[in-house]
Parts: sequence; C-alpha cells; structure tokens
Amino acid sequence: MATTAAETARNYIGGEWVDASGDETFETTNPATGETIGSFPKSTVEDVDRAVEAAKEAYESWRLVPAPKRAEILFRVGQRFIDRKDELTELMVREMGKVRAEAGGDVQEAIDMTYYMAGEGRRLFGQTTPSEMPDKFQMSIRMPVGVVGAITPWNFPIAIPSWKITPALVCGDTVVFKPARDTPMLGARFVEIFEEAGLPPGVLNIVHGGGETVGTALVEHPDVPLISLTGSREVGVQTAKNAAARLKHVHLELGGKNAIIVMDDADIDLAVEGILWSAFGTSGQRCTAASRVIASGKVYDQLSSRLVERAEAMKLGDGLEDDTDVGPVINRAALDKIHSYTEIGKDEGAKLLTGGEIATENGLDKGFFYRPTVFADVDPGMRIAQEEIFGPTTALIRATDVDEAIRIANGIEFGLSSSIFTRDVNRAFRAIRDLNTGITYVNAGTTGAEVHLPFGGTKQTGNGHREAGQAALDFYTEWKSVYVDYSGKLQRAQIDAVETPAP
Ligand code: UN1
Repeated sequence: MATTAAETARNYIGGEWVDASGDETFETTNPATGETIGSFPKSTVEDVDRAVEAAKEAYESWRLVPAPKRAEILFRVGQRFIDRKDELTELMVREMGKVRAEAGGDVQEAIDMTYYMAGEGRRLFGQTTPSEMPDKFQMSIRMPVGVVGAITPWNFPIAIPSWKITPALVCGDTVVFKPARDTPMLGARFVEIFEEAGLPPGVLNIVHGGGETVGTALVEHPDVPLISLTGSREVGVQTAKNAAARLKHVHLELGGKNAIIVMDDADIDLAVEGILWSAFGTSGQRCTAASRVIASGKVYDQLSSRLVERAEAMKLGDGLEDDTDVGPVINRAALDKIHSYTEIGKDEGAKLLTGGEIATENGLDKGFFYRPTVFADVDPGMRIAQEEIFGPTTALIRATDVDEAIRIANGIEFGLSSSIFTRDVNRAFRAIRDLNTGITYVNAGTTGAEVHLPFGGTKQTGNGHREAGQAALDFYTEWKSVYVDYSGKLQRAQIDAVETPAP
C-alpha cells in the first residue's frame, strides 16, 4: 500500500501559500486505517477577511478577461486533472475512504465538469430578441457577480468543488473555497492544479477550517454576494438565515432520502444490481443514495432475499485493496449516527434482515466500517424511512401498485433523486411525471448524474437552484437586459408602439 508522510497544508490566498493567523491546527486521518493524512490550520475570521479581500481585488481584472481566455485556463486545468488523476484517486481513497473505482469516478466527474464549463467560455449565451419599436435592438447578457463563497462536503471531495468553482470562474467570478474538514488535503490539491494551470493570483483562494468559523465568516461577509453550499439540511437553513440579512444569493444542495421503486414487471437481476450500487456504493454516503426500496408485493420477497444474499457477500475493507466492495464511513460520529438508526429501526418494529453492526474483524476496527444493512417490513412513516442516515442502510417498503409506490416515494421532506424499475413504458412515464424529485432514473439506481444536466432537488433538498449543466450558469451570473435605440428619437415602451396593421 502506498503511503506518504503526513503533510502540513496552508491556506492559499492571493496566489501565495500562507500561514493562518492563529496557531491552532486540526488533522485528517484515513478512515480505513487511522493513518494521519495531514495537518491544517484552523483559520479565523481574519484569514477569511484576507482571502475575501484578495478575491475582491482579483475580481476587478478577472471579470474583464474575455471568457474564452478564462476558459483556456480551465482547459489546462482539465488536462492537469487528467495528468494527476491516479494520484488524486489514491489520495481520495486515503483521505475520504471511498473505493478506488469510485474515487476515480469522482476525479473523472471533475474532469468532465471542467471541460464542460471551459466550453462555456465560447458560449455563455444570452438572447437577442426583436423590439416592439422600430430601429431598436435588444439583448440579454450575463454579468459576473463577484466573490463566491464555495463551501463543499467531504463525500465528493474533488467533483463537488469542480461543480461550484469551474462555472464561477468561467463566468468571471472569483472564489474563496472552504473544503470540508474531513477532506482538506484534496481541497489543497484541487487548488494546486489551478495554480499550476496559471490562474491569476486571488482568483481562487482556499481557507481551511471549520464551518462554524470559516463557513460562517464567509456567509456573513459583506463582500461575498454568492454562497454555494452542499451540506446538511440544518446547516443549509442556518446559512440561508445568516445570508438573508444581506440578501445574498444562496445555492443550497442538501439532503436526500431517495427511493428505488421495483414493479412486478421489472428485470429483477438489474434491479438488484441497481439497488446494491445505489444503497451501498460510497458506503451509502451520497446525497443520491438509495435509502429506500419500494417493491411491489409480487417481487418483494424475491428481491429481499436476493439483496440480503448479495449484501452479505460484499467485502468490507480499505478502498486501496482491489477486492474491496465497501469502504469505511467517514468518521466516528458518522459510524455512531448510522448505528443509532439501526437501533431506531429495531425499536420502531422494522425487521433487520442483515447488517446492523459495526464491523471489527480482520483489522477493520482500525477504521470506521459498517456492514451493509437491510431492513424489511418498513412502514413509510418510520424514522428510518424518513430521515437521511448517510450510511449503508436501506429500508424495504411494500407497495401494491405504481400509484401507491409513487405516493410513498413522494411522502418525505426531501426531493433529490428517484428511480423506477419497470418494463412498462406507461408506468415509466407516469413515474417521470409524478415523482417529485429533481432527478429520476428509469431502469437504473438513484445515483449516476452526468455533468451536463442540472443536478439538485425539490422540496427540502435545496432552495430551487441547480448545479451543473446550463442551470449552474444562472446562479453564477446575473442577467442584464440591454436596449439600444438607434431611431434618434424618444420612443416610449408600451406607449409609442407602432399600431398593428388593420386586418
Ligand atoms: C452527492 O451525492 O452529493 O449522481 C453527489 C451521483 C454523483 C454525484 C453525487 N454523480 O451520485
């Protein structure tokens, strides 16, 4: 197993790697082994102020760099991500814990997003439209907004920063980036790549530290008009409240409690694969994870026995080992929370079919491993069917028909992803229409979003914005409507319009 000595990372502000103002530090450790990955400054409000000042200053010139030229730097960033993909993948397995194939996918998602957004440098389309007056031209154009506060989670430590930072940069905004406390080394590497690609000083800055200090300082800073946060519902609500005082634009990407519906006409083999991948991939630590399976009565028993058999065959271990199916969860607190939901499920009367315990055999006790867990006979109102667990736990719920299945799927506070396995095209289209989520899959699990479509959810999953695709551009820019009158006289809209010719 490749290891490297623990490193000490610094903040990156105004194009320099600098010490934080205080002496306090925190460490990250490999959640599979306990190995120390690095040491990072617990930055203060003063450090955030410095970073915002650098970003604000850089904004004045960055916004004037033609977008295709901004994009050329992003194309170089994309190439650097490719060149360093293996190294970033391995670091991700070590710092975050997901298995190698998934870590590679995370880096690939950043490559895809970077190239996609770089392509926007020659688009960033607005509209031209006729005027109601003669000799008048009009169009809408996108304007950058200013300094973005990008607050990112640990579960997609390279991909999600790219979702926020690459559209911001191509649009002409500058960024102060606060990576999650569990994955700051990946955050530092991410920024290093932009530095190597020649991004001018101050355009992208990183400040390490906790949400309660660095995150809050960014959200409250008067010179940060845009905040994009992926995190828990609680932090999202607090962020929106804090940002409201300055009417900031806030993009929130919060929880999920995603369901896979399996109808009796489904390809059961395929459904089993989809459920295993969505429920236990990344140890269930995806916003898009399938933490509920709603199965038609006819296939319920077959599905549950197949799932149990396959879940029990999954190998837990260090994600660097090739035969590992399920890596660790991120930290002790996560492990305890996941296990507490097993207790809650049992107390509520759900039937624990498999898992439900912390795994400690063969050295797993050095890390934070939880067995893939399947509950059956789950009532849709139970807490394990309503609340986000963010671990390898899924709840089997029975439904009689597609209408009931959709009703149950929608009967939660979140609305990120959903899926239906069916061979009936009518049922599939009903589900597409009626599932109240930002993403719906047909004959696939609940994970697997691609970068050129909008990503986000309805209801309490967010606040109506979307990341990725064209939708992201609407958050990182403001529209300006431009009217050019070349008639040489005053033409009053709605009043002096030319009369419609008589019929
Ligand atoms: C997340 O879970 O926070 O669709 C992001 C997916 C990934 C992204 C997930 N491409 O599961």
